[in-house]
Order: sequence, then C-alpha cells, then structure tokens
Amino acid sequence: MGDLSSRGMPLDPLSGSLREYRDPKGTDLFARVEPFYDWQEQRRQGEYWPYSRSTESAPQPLCAVVDDAGRAFKGVNFASQDYLSLASHPAIKQAAKATVDEYGVHSAGSGAFLGNTRFSLQLQRTISDFLQLEHTLLYPTGWAAGYGVIRGLIRAEDHVVIDALAHNCLQDGALAATPNVHLHRHLSLPSVRRVLAHIRSRDTTNGILVITEGPFSMHSDTPDIPSLQDLCHEYGAKLLVDVAHDLGNIGEDGRGHVGRQKMTGKVDLVMGSFSKTFASNGGFVACNSIAVKEYLRYFGSTGTFSNALSPVQAAVVQKAFEIVRSEEGRQLRADLMRNSLYLRGALTSEGLEVMGDPSAIVSVKIDDEAFARIVSQKLNRTGVIANLVEYPAVARGTALFRLQVMAKHSRENIDRLVSGLRLAISEASAGSDYSAPSLSFASPALQAGAAGG
Ligand SMILES: Cc1ncc(COP(=O)(O)O)c(C=O)c1O
Repeated sequence: MGDLSSRGMPLDPLSGSLREYRDPKGTDLFARVEPFYDWQEQRRQGEYWPYSRSTESAPQPLCAVVDDAGRAFKGVNFASQDYLSLASHPAIKQAAKATVDEYGVHSAGSGAFLGNTRFSLQLQRTISDFLQLEHTLLYPTGWAAGYGVIRGLIRAEDHVVIDALAHNCLQDGALAATPNVHLHRHLSLPSVRRVLAHIRSRDTTNGILVITEGPFSMHSDTPDIPSLQDLCHEYGAKLLVDVAHDLGNIGEDGRGHVGRQKMTGKVDLVMGSFSKTFASNGGFVACNSIAVKEYLRYFGSTGTFSNALSPVQAAVVQKAFEIVRSEEGRQLRADLMRNSLYLRGALTSEGLEVMGDPSAIVSVKIDDEAFARIVSQKLNRTGVIANLVEYPAVARGTALFRLQVMAKHSRENIDRLVSGLRLAISEASAGSDYSAPSLSFASPALQAGAAGG
C-alpha cells in the first residue's frame, strides 16, 4: 500500500467517513481520489469494510458470501432485499426461463423507441390496476424512476419540498432539476406546512413537488400520507410517494402504507422499485394523468435515454405481482411481518435500540460508529451477514445495522442472528483484538448487550 500516511487523510480504519472524500480538490482527477482508496484499503485489510460483498449462492436466508478482499464466509443472511422470498421462487424462475426461450434476454431499445415488449405493456397495466392509478411508466431501475420523474416534471423556477431523509435518487433528482430544493424536517407535517406557506407567499406562478417515502429506507418510519396530500391540495402542490420498501409486502392486500392509510388511487404520483419485493431490477411511476405519463416517456431522461426493462425482468415482475395478489402472497406477507416482529422483540430484549415501524427493514441503532465497525467485523466471523450503514446515510458519529427480513427466514435463522450480534458486541466491547483507547462504549443499550454476551 506504500506510504499512505503521506497523503494527509485519516488512516485509522475506525475513523473517517465517506463524506470526507466526497469533494476532492486538485487538478489531477485521478490523483485526488487516491486518499479515498488508501482509507478504504486500510478498512478492507482490517476487515472493517463491509461493503461491495458478493454472493456465491442465491440470496436466501442462508448464504455464502465473499467480501471485498476475497475472504469467503457463510452465514444467516439479513443483508439481501428479497422481502417475500420471491427471487428463488419456482414459479418466478419458471417464468424467467419460459420468457428467455420465447423472447431472448434483451429489450434492445429504450421504451421511447422499440424497447417495450408484450411483457412490459402487460406489467404496466398490472401495476395500474394494483395501485388504482390509470397510467404507469416503467423505468430500468427504481433509482431511475425516482430521478427521472423529478427531472422530467420540475424546471428551474419550480420548487421541490423533500423530506431530509429521502432516498438519494430523490435528492439527486431534485438537485438536478432546480436550485429551489427545500428540505423539511423528517416526517414533520408542521415543517412541510411552513415551507409550503413560505414558498406560496413569494411564488404563486410555479410548480411545487412534495416528496416522501413510505416507509423510509433507513429508519423504517412512516409519513402521514393523507395529511401530506391534503397539504398539497391546499398549497397547489403535487405529492410524490416512493413505495420502494412497502409495495407488495405490507398490509393485508400488499398495497403498502398507501393502502393502509386508505390512499390507494388518491396520491398524485407513486413511484417504486421492483428490487426489494418483486425479484428484479426495475422501477415505475404511476399516476392518473395520461399527459404526465406521455410527457415523462420523452422528458424523463433516465427512461427516455436508457434501454427498457428486459422481457425477462418484466415477466418476472409480472409473475411476482400475481403471487403478491394471491393467497400465497397474503401468507408470505404474514410470515414476513411475523419475522419482523419476532426479530424486533428479540433485539429489544438484548437491550438494543430498534428504530421505526415494523416492516421488512429492522434497523438497529449503534451510538458509536467506530464500535459499530468492530462489531461488523466480528459479525462476519460469527456467521451473520448484515449491512452496516454509516454517516452520511445516518447522523455523524453513529451507525446502524440495517437488517432486511425475508418471509422465508426461520425462527432459527433469527435466533442465530441475534446470538451472533450479542457475541460480536460482547467481543467488540472486550476489545479482543483491537485496542483503541479513544473508543467510548457510551451507549447503555450496548453495555446491556455486551453484558448479555
Ligand atoms: C427508497 C428507495 N427508493 C429507490 C431505490 C432505488 O431502487 P433500485 O434498487 O430499484 O434502483 C431504493 C433502493 O435502494 C430505495 O431504498
């Protein structure tokens, strides 16, 4: 690795954050990103880099994984997004195989040209029917859908009012579309009202898009969707709800928080991703205006200038919707929610802080980022696969383990996760192979967890 310290950035693998490397300075575009690599390499070599891992087997509850330094391990998997366990479902695999045989593997064009297929057209109708919104447009990914709908509809004079914790695709779409991006306090209706009133007191001629998620991808907490929609009506704004994490898997009928809050068919714009519940890459935007759908088809850059979903992806998602709407889907949702509640209960009894509302995302807050990195390292060795989320995705100095539950996790899988986490916390607290006197294990929750181990 050479003399890494000479580049002037922190080289302790337990300190520093991605944020510090986001705005490198200097004329040499290549040289200026090297400090990031050095820092990352320190973390990678010390097994403190829990990112960019790959699976060696299907992303199921038990999984074989290789980390970014080539180290292989197996364990209970709470790091994959396959909430209803459809990615390895026999009917889904069969649909994919049949489509490959009939259609080949590629859409071979943007949806604005010849990239639509019989399968993608059918899928658009299926989604419209499910959401009770008349028009649906597919995108190559959920990220592209979020970015594309904002970039497509918003112009420089318009305003975006967006929850401070909204997903990167929404924030980036907003920043690319207009300088008038107004962050509101997370989930705060008074804050949304204040911002809207302020905008309308100065600008009665331009558009406003209010953006939220249900549930939020890091903390699994949920907005009040009817009140947000009401506020939008009051101030002449439109509402966009990103349903990436709940569509298909939450609520008796799978219509997510929008359905639970009796807003099916009543939200101005709904966008989502297939990558969490529907076993495929891909995303969509749905609304009741055909003009908006057609406009986005040609002005929503990420769909217009990118090849459409492949026929295989569209057929897979179509089959996933069929399962979501069936009795089996209802059962899978019940299994997922039972698992989520069981896991939340088990973690809470370990003295850990579990965030947000019950969903497929179970986030465990760790007050000390350095400590969380050590726990994460130990977790690999205890046979637990879990994603660590650090600043800037969460507050500076803190971290969280974002556990993602599947319908097919067993009680035993969850028990193994919890005992692995207990052991990792206990070993990290004991500082078994890392001595960092500056570390402070300040969280009483963690101390309780450590004592438990
Ligand atoms: C809230 C939210 N929106 C959009 C996306 C993007 O979805 P995709 O993985 O399909 O690009 C994600 C995925 O991380 C997400 O969490």
